[in-house]
Amino acid sequence: MEKIIIFDTTLRDGEQAPGAALTSFQKLEVAAQLEKLGVDIIEAGFPVASPDDFAAVVSIAKLVKKCGVCALARCIDKDIERAGTAVKKAKHPRVHLFLATSKIHLKYKFKKAEDEIANIARESIRKAKKFCTDIEFSPEDATRTNKDFLFRMIEMAIKEGAQTINIPDTVGYSYPQEVYALISEIINNVPNINKTVIATHCHNDLGLATANSLSAVLAGARQVHCTINGIGERAGNASLEEIVMALRTRKDVFGNFYTGINTREIYRTSRLVSKATNFVVPPNKAIVGRNAFAHESGIHQDAILKKRITYEIMDPHDVGIASSQLILGKHSGRHAFRDRLKGLGIVLNEEQLNKAFARFKEVADKKKDIFDDDLRIIVEEEVGAAKPVWKLESFEINSGTRVKPYAQVALIKAGKNLSGASSGDGPVDACFKAIDKITGYHAKLDDFRLEAVTSGKDALGQASLKLKVSGSVVSGRGSSTDIIEAAIKAYIDAVNKLKNK
Ligand code: KIV
Ligand code: ZN
Repeated sequence: MEKIIIFDTTLRDGEQAPGAALTSFQKLEVAAQLEKLGVDIIEAGFPVASPDDFAAVVSIAKLVKKCGVCALARCIDKDIERAGTAVKKAKHPRVHLFLATSKIHLKYKFKKAEDEIANIARESIRKAKKFCTDIEFSPEDATRTNKDFLFRMIEMAIKEGAQTINIPDTVGYSYPQEVYALISEIINNVPNINKTVIATHCHNDLGLATANSLSAVLAGARQVHCTINGIGERAGNASLEEIVMALRTRKDVFGNFYTGINTREIYRTSRLVSKATNFVVPPNKAIVGRNAFAHESGIHQDAILKKRITYEIMDPHDVGIASSQLILGKHSGRHAFRDRLKGLGIVLNEEQLNKAFARFKEVADKKKDIFDDDLRIIVEEEVGAAKPVWKLESFEINSGTRVKPYAQVALIKAGKNLSGASSGDGPVDACFKAIDKITGYHAKLDDFRLEAVTSGKDALGQASLKLKVSGSVVSGRGSSTDIIEAAIKAYIDAVNKLKNK
């Protein structure tokens, strides 16, 4: 088995993501968690960028004990001094030098010839060696570099003592077969290549960063640069969680490789980085997104309850997520519905289940997520209730700042449709009066309350009220995502109790 070295650059390339600046304290927190996660090297920052960046790298170098701590430097004396000094106290210090080698960068960024670039890189590696024995060299924009020049640069860097040669796909331009071919060509054309470790650093501009990194591994790269949640410049870097879990899950392809990552720390690390950077993880993000182990379709839920592996290729526990989630929504089936009720300690017979399930579907059509409290109300209302005399068929209201509220309500009694209309002091009052016209009761409202039972804009609202009719007091409750409907249902619920008295 061969180890794939996980080089985490969340605190360097990740922090370069627009808007992702971390405080020094947050950087230390993330570094401590990365160590717990089991990464091999933490690229802690770019010390020349600012005194704060320098100080953060120094602090991380002192804090971290198990993994290597690396600092980035351009091939400029001042950068190298700052980087070398910042990591000096680390148990395993490394300096990462980079210099662009592609024609585009040479022509427009540097206005220098290839030989000049090679000389600068050579001198810089020599200088960096005075600060640190472990040097990584990156020919920036390697995947768009003229191959002969790239081979020449790599050979020179190894000769000067670079123990790791990183091949950056700086602008995320490559695709997997191309990366595989490039790494293979490097191995076949650089005579001293076996004196170094080949690394890969893929950006995600075309959404191919993970695929390209895995391709590089198959071709011979043994170190992977990656970030938590895939954050980084522009569209980001290859994501650590995707690479690690792909290597682990696809043993048929990557069975020869292992990483030192404690995968159970993945989710916790992802949350921490998301919180520190203020970058929300998209719900559909592989491995760590809210929906990565969530199922809503009835067909999927039913199969998952029979055997998890029908629709899950990874066990959520393996990445530190407590369990898969069966999201109850309009696509859910009876199996998942019954299972969730069971989890809440509610066991229904077939008839009760049918009634509750029908009501659940009605609510789910209007409300995106159904929470446990929604379910409790659904069951309470549908299963606990006696057969009603009056049922709501429909209602319509006309209300606003310039019109007197007016309501039309239709009820069903013994299969017959009866309707009434009334104006009122407000839309709810107008509805209640319209109901009175149908039922013939002249009820006095004694108490009326409305509350949101669950959270969100589409929360299920519950209305509760008391009615007084000729000395009798009855209470009613109703719920809906529409508060007027909830009030009407509560009123009818109470009226039905009057009839039963
Ligand atoms: O994307 C890139 O090329 C880099 C280098 C500094 C390795 O981040
Ligand atoms: Zn990068």
